[in-house]
Amino acid sequence: MCGIVGYVGADHAKEKIIDGLKRLEYRGYDSAGIALPIDGKIQIRKHVGEIRNLEKIIGEPEFDSAVGIGHTRWATHGAPSDLNSHPHGNSDNSIAIVHNGIIENYQEIKEWLARDYGVTFKSETDSEVIAHLIGIFYDGDLLEAVNKAVAEMRGAYAVCAIAAAEPDKIVAVRKDAPLVAGVGKGFNFIASDIPALLKYVRQVYLIENNETVVLTKDDIVIYNEEGRKVRRDVFNVTWDADAAEKEGYEHFMLKEIHEQPKGIYETLTRRINDDGSIRLDGISMTKEDIENFNKVYIVACGTAYHAGLVGKLVIEKMAHVPVEIDVASEFRYRDPFVDENTLFIAISQSGETLDTLAALREAKRKGARVLSVVNVVGSSVARESDDVFYTWAGPEIAVASTKAYTTQLICMYLLGLYMGKTKGTIEDDYYDKVLSDLKALPDKVELLLKKEDEIAEIARKYHRREQVFFIGRGLDSGVSYEGSLKLKEISYINSFAIAAGELKHGTIALMEEETLVFALATQDFLYEKMVSNVEEIRARGARIISVAKEGRTEIEKVTDEVIYIPDCIDEVSPVLAVIPLQLFAYYVARERGCNIDKPKNLAKSVTVE
Ligand code: M6R
Repeated sequence: MCGIVGYVGADHAKEKIIDGLKRLEYRGYDSAGIALPIDGKIQIRKHVGEIRNLEKIIGEPEFDSAVGIGHTRWATHGAPSDLNSHPHGNSDNSIAIVHNGIIENYQEIKEWLARDYGVTFKSETDSEVIAHLIGIFYDGDLLEAVNKAVAEMRGAYAVCAIAAAEPDKIVAVRKDAPLVAGVGKGFNFIASDIPALLKYVRQVYLIENNETVVLTKDDIVIYNEEGRKVRRDVFNVTWDADAAEKEGYEHFMLKEIHEQPKGIYETLTRRINDDGSIRLDGISMTKEDIENFNKVYIVACGTAYHAGLVGKLVIEKMAHVPVEIDVASEFRYRDPFVDENTLFIAISQSGETLDTLAALREAKRKGARVLSVVNVVGSSVARESDDVFYTWAGPEIAVASTKAYTTQLICMYLLGLYMGKTKGTIEDDYYDKVLSDLKALPDKVELLLKKEDEIAEIARKYHRREQVFFIGRGLDSGVSYEGSLKLKEISYINSFAIAAGELKHGTIALMEEETLVFALATQDFLYEKMVSNVEEIRARGARIISVAKEGRTEIEKVTDEVIYIPDCIDEVSPVLAVIPLQLFAYYVARERGCNIDKPKNLAKSVTVE
């Protein structure tokens, strides 16, 4: 996730900015840069890779100033590279900016600036247009130019700008992206996140949407959208830097669970046009390509594979094409039937999982068209794919994957809908219904997260169990696998998932007094069958925690606890059903005193076989 740090003071802006950027490293980034006004000009230095790469090119004492802006970039538009890194300058580098967020109409602005002002662009980013816009409007007043530029922009942004002709100030503005101003004595800071500032300040102003801030070394002035000065109380930060990185959450996993409404919104909403059609930027498959696929193969590992289990059913239903699925470590060694009429979908949060990468190469060698669903822009899986479909979940730091999973599910739905519409295999009414239920998900997930205390209480009750089963039917069966993996990887409880209908073929032998079973019953058309399965195991004395849709109360008669999820069509319920399972796993692990963000024996990115 991108990070911003700006400093206005008496000296050595460079040092403070680098310090601040380092405090944001935990969020993940792919490049870093810094811009300083020096002797009437703005000098920009930036480098792909870690901050230490940047440090190597800013060492000389002449490259310093009392004012400056810095950035760590997490690529969204354009691969990680020196040129795509921030800060970006306008044509003569009299203006420089750093930006977090996405400018939705950047293509339009680019065309306009190129046509009417002859601007040429150095990077592939959406952000560069901001520097040029400010440059064009600049007439000796940076605040005015920033306000005019913002009036042309649509999207989400936190932007900090400096001008060579006003080397004593920073102007910043925000809309739907965080921004805080740090209050010092004889110096001030601006940053995207509080941890960046804590070494130097404890008092901050929280900047609100559509506000603009002007920082000089002795003053911070906040303006509202109408240009009027705003009085803001200072916010005293009492947490230490470590806690602040987690934004007050005890663990990254919990923070990431709570970031899911945002991740789902980002991944989904920007891809839906006003007329309800789906826009898949970065995917160049034609109608003919889609019609010619006679098979889809989904390959992934761990949680990403579980997203694929849902994807298989969704794509088959919507696009009427057979979908096979395999874990990457098996696929790569079994000479699978893949050819040029196969669409091969690799799913990976990190984009660096070795097995997934090897499977992808194998599929490519056999002539398949490779589409990847990836979170990390510019990762190996993304680079080696024909088409890339990014999950805009932001960096995932906890080893246990949560927000990557729900955004991977969103990609599966969008792909199913897109392919179905293109092939004409999906009815208009059904398409509209799925789309409207998808759009309602961010709010519904938010609602569900409010049940955190209720779920924590259930976790406290059962956290001493050494064995837990997860069962479900249809789409719920895929979610059961994910719930089981979440629990075992962070709490070290022996958990086991199985399709509910399969229980009687062997596993039911393990059901006895007090066996704990999580029963997912969110599929309306399988609800009665699921209730029967639960009755069977209940008759053997098992303890049942069910997950069901609001209003489906029949299951209460046969279970010990029921967690209700908001009502929705069956197809999208996995996105909701998984939330209680994530929270249950989290609170069980917490009760057991486990190292939640870094469980034993596990790594975030598995780059070995
Ligand atoms: O980065 P990837 O999505 O390719 O990683 C795949 C698995 O290693 C990953 O999902 C793993 O299972 C997680 N620890 C699950 O929480």
